Order: sequence, then structure tokens, then C-alpha cells
Amino acid sequence: MSLFHESFEIKGENLFFDGFNLYELAQKHGTPLLVTSEKRLRNNYRTLFNAFTRHYRNIQINYALKANANPAIVCALAQEGCGADVSSPFELALARFCGVPVQKTIFSPNYASLEELMFGVESGAILNFDDIEQFRLIPKSPEVVSFRVNPGFGKGEFQGVVTAGPEAKFGVPADRVIAGYELALKRNVKRFGIHAMVGSNVLDPSHFERVTRAVVECALEVKRKLSVNFEFVDIGGGFGVPYKPTEERLNVEEVARRVTKIVRESGLGNSTLILEPGRYLVADTTILLTKVNHVKNYTKTFVGVDCGMNVLIRPALYGAYHHIVVVNKMDQPVRVKANVVGQICENTDVLGTDVQLPEVNRGDVLAILNAGAYVYAMSSQYNLRPRPKELLIDREGRVHVIRQAEEWCDMVRHTNVPPHLLP
Ligand code: LLP
Repeated sequence: MSLFHESFEIKGENLFFDGFNLYELAQKHGTPLLVTSEKRLRNNYRTLFNAFTRHYRNIQINYALKANANPAIVCALAQEGCGADVSSPFELALARFCGVPVQKTIFSPNYASLEELMFGVESGAILNFDDIEQFRLIPKSPEVVSFRVNPGFGKGEFQGVVTAGPEAKFGVPADRVIAGYELALKRNVKRFGIHAMVGSNVLDPSHFERVTRAVVECALEVKRKLSVNFEFVDIGGGFGVPYKPTEERLNVEEVARRVTKIVRESGLGNSTLILEPGRYLVADTTILLTKVNHVKNYTKTFVGVDCGMNVLIRPALYGAYHHIVVVNKMDQPVRVKANVVGQICENTDVLGTDVQLPEVNRGDVLAILNAGAYVYAMSSQYNLRPRPKELLIDREGRVHVIRQAEEWCDMVRHTNVPPHLLP
């Protein structure tokens, strides 16, 4: 399967993205450079929303800001009617800043301080507690209370992105969560929800069925024993996207059919079904452009580019694969098998291993695909390398700078040298 979607076009030797020649865009704005398609972003939201609403009326999609918290991206999704899944006070603040209504915002911190929990309560957002003790801690209950259930199993593309099961730090075991709702009832809470998030980047539709069944069963048990009604059932995110050309796209139509059937037939009434996708909405909206600085060819071929693990840490951290193409040599045959590496002083600074590329030279521009999710969001200034500029191409074909590249001042911002140490 091709990883290219409607935003991509190959003309002669060049790759275009939403009508723009990527080689020229890289020359004009400099590299490394992240380029996002607003059209694709909105299409992803609509694909998911329409697939689910075809089968069930009460659907809410809450974008997981942790995947990419650029305000322009969050604003575009808010315009679509999307809610927010936030994990920290600043994510909560950013969602509000971008126009997401608090009623559509679920705050799911883990191992939160009392101050953070109270920030959530005061904001009016829905609180999703990672543990019963966290709920017990707060002096004032929020309007709506939800607990994150750990159903006892997890699943993710890598061990590092499994967020449930016996080894996971998240949530309350399914057979213990009832005590949380009991406590909430004692504290006069009247509105309830339930939540699970078991892992990320899953391409198998039956997985989402399994998660939904587990959450629904847990909710039914609580309902039977305590007679509480659940306003919402939140099955988390985890909707995968293909990163390798050999992977198929997730059949969201099938996921929607299977998941909504369980909720519809559950006897939970008309609970809102909430989804919390991060990756699915943003991953393929964005490409990362980087220029070849140097090619080294001894025991192995190393293609050294001007972007490293400080911008894209997923390969180093998880062994993740990101597809890489040379945007100005799209018509050329494969000639080399190379490791694409960055400039960071770590041997794990590899963006692609044994990548099949045409003959590569200094000045060529590479596009790294699926750079919209967990890329900028997980970037750092390691080795004092600045984070890159971000562009958005809107639906009218205008290019907007949605974040400037970092500069020298950003490297020393917030630092202070005591007078006696000044040079
Ligand atoms: N909701 C909660 C409570 C989460 O913890 C997460 C992600 C999501 C939703 C969104 O999951 P998604 O739809 O994006 O799979 N850094 C890793 C991914 C970690 C995901 C952590 N939680 C990566 O680069 O693959």
C-alpha cells in the first residue's frame, strides 16, 4: 500500500504536498521543517466522526493533545467540533485557549499533585481519575466523575506504548474500580463516566471491540451494584496509522460498526461514546523535511541530515519506523541502502535503518512521513539543537508559519548565571 494520500502528488522528479513543491518549500523556509496539511487534518476528523455517527448518535471525539499541541492544529480541530483529552494543566489551558469548550474536555492526569487536580476541578473540565486515592485527596468533588479502568490487558505497537495490563502504571484494576464510584456517591456526585486507554497504534479492528467490551462490562457491573448511570463511556485512543508501505490502513468503518454495536446493545442507555484519538487525527497530516549535509560510505552508508533525534525521537526510543523519501529524486531507482542519521552525539541518533534510497548527495531533501504525531511533541534541545519551524498549508493553498524555529535566545531562556560566575 502506498503511504501517500490525497495531499501527495509526484510530478516528474519532485514530490508535491497540497500543491507545493517540497524541495522549493525547503529552500524557501529552511530545514528541518514540519509541513502540515489542514485539509488532511479535517478529513481525518471527519472520516472518524462520520464512520461512528453512521452507527450511533452520541459520539464525541476528544483529540489527545499530547500527540501534537500546536495551537493552530488544536484550533482547526476545535472548529470541527472536536473535544479534548488533556493530561496536564497546560494542555488543559491550551485546549481552552484554542476554543474547546470545557464540557468537551476530559482531564486525565496520572500521579497528579493535589494542586493539579484542583486546577482541573476549578476549570470545569471532566475529571478522569487515574486512581481512587486521587479522588479521595480532593476536598471538593467535580461535577462529573470518571475513573480510568485498567482492564488487565494492554496492546500497542511497541512495549513502550502499552498503557494497560499488569505492568502498566495507569488506571484502577477493573475489579477494584467500584469502590471509587461508591465513594463518589457518598460525596454526592450525581454524574458519572468511565474510561480506559490500553495502548497506542493498533491496526487490528477486533482490539477495539475487546476494549469496548471490557469497559462496558465494568460499567454494567457498577451500574448493577450501585444503580449509577453512565453519561459516557470513553474507550480511549490507540487508533493506528500505517507507517510502513506493507501495512494496511485501519478500517475505521469496521471498528465503528463493531464498537457501536456493543455500546448500543449494552443496556447502558444512551451513554455518549467518547473516542480519544491522538495519532489517527494528526500523524499523516505532517511531513518532516530535512536536508542532506553529508554522505559517508565506509563499512556502511550513512546519510547525515540536518535533523536528529532531538526532533524525531521515536526510532531511538521505540525502534519505530518512519518512511523516508528523497523529494527531489522521486523518479530515480533505488541505488543505496543507508542509515539516515542526525547530528546528535549519540549512536542511537538514527532516523531510518537500511533505508532504500536513490543515489543521495549533499543538498538533497528528504521527507520523513507521519511526522504529525509524537514528533514535535516529544522533541528537545539536546545538543542545543533548536526545534524546527512548522508550516500549515490551509484549504485555500496559503502557507502559514504556525511556529517559528527556535533561536539562540531559546537555548538560554530561563537560565541565570549568578554574578560571581559571570565570565
Ligand atoms: N488518551 C490517553 C489517556 C492517552 O494516554 C493517549 C496516549 C491517548 C488518548 C492517545 O493515544 P493515540 O490515539 O495517539 O494512540 N509516544 C508514543 C505514543 C504514546 C501514547 C500515550 N498515550 C508514540 O510515539 O508512539
